Amino acid sequence: MPTLINGKEVSEKIQQEIAAEVEQLIKAGKRKPHLAAVLVGNDPASQTYVNSKIKTCEKVGFTSSLVRFDENVTETELLKKIEEMNEDAGLDGYIVQLPLPKHISEQKVIEAVKPSKDVDGFHPINVGRLVLNLPTYISATPYGIVHLLEYYKIETQGKHCVVIGRSNIVGTPMSILMAKNTPLANCTVTLCHSKTKNLKEHTLQADIVIAAIGRPNFVTGDMVKQGAVVIDVGINRVTSTETKSGFKLVGDVKFDEVAPKCSFITPVPGGVGPMTIASLLKNTLLAAKKEIYK
Ligand code: GUN
Repeated sequence: MPTLINGKEVSEKIQQEIAAEVEQLIKAGKRKPHLAAVLVGNDPASQTYVNSKIKTCEKVGFTSSLVRFDENVTETELLKKIEEMNEDAGLDGYIVQLPLPKHISEQKVIEAVKPSKDVDGFHPINVGRLVLNLPTYISATPYGIVHLLEYYKIETQGKHCVVIGRSNIVGTPMSILMAKNTPLANCTVTLCHSKTKNLKEHTLQADIVIAAIGRPNFVTGDMVKQGAVVIDVGINRVTSTETKSGFKLVGDVKFDEVAPKCSFITPVPGGVGPMTIASLLKNTLLAAKKEIYK
């Protein structure tokens, strides 16, 4: 049976390291790092994520603020707030929780965030810096996955990594990170997506499969070679008769079929999910220490 990758444990460890660094900053006479989250509307999943981000800030000794807007807020009003936050010297970094209501352009909002405060790493300048191998904020999910591979000492050098899904937030930055000339990467990368022909031919070649396609149970046992490392980014809500709520969370990987073939696999929940907050806090610490932008 495979080693189950415990994202909760790794996330806790990173949070402890961050908390220790915050103590050092305070001892050195600096203020606490300050992260703000902007939440528009009442989407239950977004509210849960944002609450969890805020709660974890408190845990590691950061200051946090929640800026809430009604879902009818205009794009102009939101952009005005972003402008204010860009100029607020007491704020190290902030995120605008996505998705936004349809009448607001997400791209406009992403580009309005000052790159030095863009701890989500979504601004084109920060994505460009990632591509060019310059210091940057790496978006939370890909950064979290790299931490998991590092923690479990998973060999990546020269390995074949197949990423499934090419979203701006996960698949695309993930493929770039895994191909980098660094000790934690150096993979040969194949980026597969909805138009890929014969997907299984690609995935069967993979030493490392990273599934970020957003379709429940998409990766099946016959698609994975013996001994592969499988990282499941999916968080899909499906109806279930097994739970009181009538829903359960499943990944992009059909776990029961795939796990017996793997050397390592992430469960859902408890694999990649808990790592994203740890990554966001790491980026905020980098922002507070002005390590990316002087
Ligand atoms: N929505 C889903 N994931 C994310 C994320 O990492 N950051 C933001 N801002 N919104 C999201």
